[in-house]
Amino acid sequence: MKKGLVFAVILALFVALAGCGGKSAEQTSGNGEAKKKVIVGTDAAFAPFEYMDKGKIVGFDVDFLDAVMEEAGLEYELKNIGWDPLFAALQEGKEIDLAISGITINDKRKQTYDFSVPYFESTHMILVKENSPIKNALDLKGKIVGVQNGTTGQAAVEKLFGAENKNIKKFENTVVAIMDLLNGGVDAVVTDNAVANEYVKNNPDKKLKAIEDPANFESEFYGLMFPKGSDLKPKVDEAIKKVIESGKYAEIYKKWFGNEPKVDNLLKQQ
Ligand code: ARG
Repeated sequence: MKKGLVFAVILALFVALAGCGGKSAEQTSGNGEAKKKVIVGTDAAFAPFEYMDKGKIVGFDVDFLDAVMEEAGLEYELKNIGWDPLFAALQEGKEIDLAISGITINDKRKQTYDFSVPYFESTHMILVKENSPIKNALDLKGKIVGVQNGTTGQAAVEKLFGAENKNIKKFENTVVAIMDLLNGGVDAVVTDNAVANEYVKNNPDKKLKAIEDPANFESEFYGLMFPKGSDLKPKVDEAIKKVIESGKYAEIYKKWFGNEPKVDNLLKQQ
């Protein structure tokens, strides 16, 4: 009898371990139904949305994702895989089931991916040294401008100065682009407004300033990104709306940005 039990335990362990290798580890929920763990990818070098702090991925997106997944009743795991790999992984349908990374919803990306309803409004800003003569986007002409490769920041600069422009320097992530600005490798960095503002605020010793230019930089919205046709999208959309309507969104927003979000603007987009 006892032997049988030991055998059963070993067998159960074996089965559990065997399930751990793939993308979505199968789990068994209370009612015996198979439940999938959703794997979410991110590029954790984009504070305050996602960044590494003492070995953990933290940020506005991380808290928001957690609220959404809880609302949707989905178990998940967040993986830091880097920006370009996010797009490749979703396209190949391997490694991750969705991505959250301050990702702007736009028509070009919509051809290849599905997006959730919008959850954050953004625009671009120019980061420069405090004593820089640059005052707006047009002043970037003839200057070396750093952008994160494959971002809408890159697209915004290319729209102004042409895609072939040799003065646009592309970086693997936004942190290294800002490092290069500090080291004098570029004259400016164009990135998302919240990221630019956060950097200036948290690093007064670096003597940088963030410049806005609504005449040249459009407003855009972030969404969670899925492979085309993902069956997670309807569930996640529903959960996002609930998180926004319930006030949970405002709570998370205040924690990271210190003020009230313009929820009406977001709801108008949905
Ligand atoms: N919002 C911009 C875009 O979608 C930049 C996002 C970069 N995010 C990141 N985690 N590095 O292109």
